[in-house]
Amino acid sequence: MHRKLSLFPLNSSVNASGRLMFGKHSAVHLARLFGTPLYVYDIGTIRHNIKVYQASLQKYAGEAQLTYASKAFLCLALARLMTEENVGLDVSSAGEIFIAERAGAPAANMHLHGNNKSWRDLEAALQAGVGRFVVDNPTELERLVQLTAGRPQPVDIWLRVTPDVRVETHHRFTVTGTADSKFGLPLAQVETVAAQILTDPRFETLRLTGLHVHLGSHFHDVEPVAVAIERLLVVANSLREKYGWHLAELCPGGGWGVPYHPTDPPMPPAPFVTGLVAAVEQLCAANRLPLPKLILEPGRSLVAQAGVALYTVGSRKTIPNGRTYVSVDGGLADNPRPALYQARYTALLANRAAEPETETVAVAGPFCESGDILIDEVQLPPAQPGDVLAAPVAGAYQLSMGSNYNAALRPAVVFLDENGVKLVQRRETVEDLIRRDVGSN
Ligand SMILES: Cc1ncc(COP(=O)(O)O)c(C=O)c1O
Repeated sequence: MHRKLSLFPLNSSVNASGRLMFGKHSAVHLARLFGTPLYVYDIGTIRHNIKVYQASLQKYAGEAQLTYASKAFLCLALARLMTEENVGLDVSSAGEIFIAERAGAPAANMHLHGNNKSWRDLEAALQAGVGRFVVDNPTELERLVQLTAGRPQPVDIWLRVTPDVRVETHHRFTVTGTADSKFGLPLAQVETVAAQILTDPRFETLRLTGLHVHLGSHFHDVEPVAVAIERLLVVANSLREKYGWHLAELCPGGGWGVPYHPTDPPMPPAPFVTGLVAAVEQLCAANRLPLPKLILEPGRSLVAQAGVALYTVGSRKTIPNGRTYVSVDGGLADNPRPALYQARYTALLANRAAEPETETVAVAGPFCESGDILIDEVQLPPAQPGDVLAAPVAGAYQLSMGSNYNAALRPAVVFLDENGVKLVQRRETVEDLIRRDVGSN
């Protein structure tokens, strides 16, 4: 088996002609049919990951719910798939709420995040009936008080806590739970804010049902999450003793990592969830707290491996005594992660996947930034114009963080399953680029 294949969707293989296959679908054929850059998602891989999370969560002695952090990648088809699989949605803007609602996702199974939720975000969420508001700071709390004034039914809120716990991610930009974070209420302030909500009649339209923590993205150690949960439960215990408050819901966030590179260790989500479940059960028992409903909100570990970015090689050059650059037709605009935080990727040639990988090259995109390097160093067969480069683990934080830099057209997205291929987002056209411009028609 090709040593990089384990990073690709679960049904990936290399056929007798040396072509990369997803089940019965040839990557090269898909690239020809839809053009490149193309984002391919294997739906079976997403469903499998959901099942792994849900099965592990079922071992929790209390109630549990899996939600999907839709910032990882959201479109109508994916929101529908999540809804079909009984996965709630973590949304972070009026825009994400709009997409989720259009897809028919029940608002009651959504919760709203954000460290600077605008009036518009909050109003959209209230209007949609979003199930929970994850309050990030005192300003937001005041906004919610104003917006909910006179409501007959209280709105359910959680407090997002910054527990001052560090997780090891690959970059400081993806750490969110340390003391100096733009997200959440500092641990030392949580009790004061909660006490206000619980005792001051001004907050009667808000019902505090839970606590939330999210330590960062792309870590693979459950221990820090257990430490963070312990800190939250100390607060919950104190609030129970002083105000008779009951922690009904607990969300320890998402953040579980995935391997991006053949040298990365495996990061199966099942032991992570099992570890979390055990930690919550033990810590609640130790604090004599009834088990809260446990809500998880992973993004990357549900969808990253399912996605593959297909590019066409356009040119190559070798610098005397230097590197060989292989340039492809996408990069910074559809995947800013390498430029943003030195994310490390690999790739293979989908049309020559059985050939020896004898050359070490840098894979560059076509955009006007020297930082537009998709892969700093990868071994490939000597790549030629026309070859199809397949970059795995492309399903999360690529398209959702993409841009139209250099007036790039956002790529098409196709979903694959055993029933066939479905175009779920068409490629942008040049007309799309001027659609918002006044006087464009
Ligand atoms: C609040 C919150 N929850 C969940 C996630 C999902 O993280 P991941 O995709 O690493 O699972 C994020 C992403 O950073 C987040 O900000």
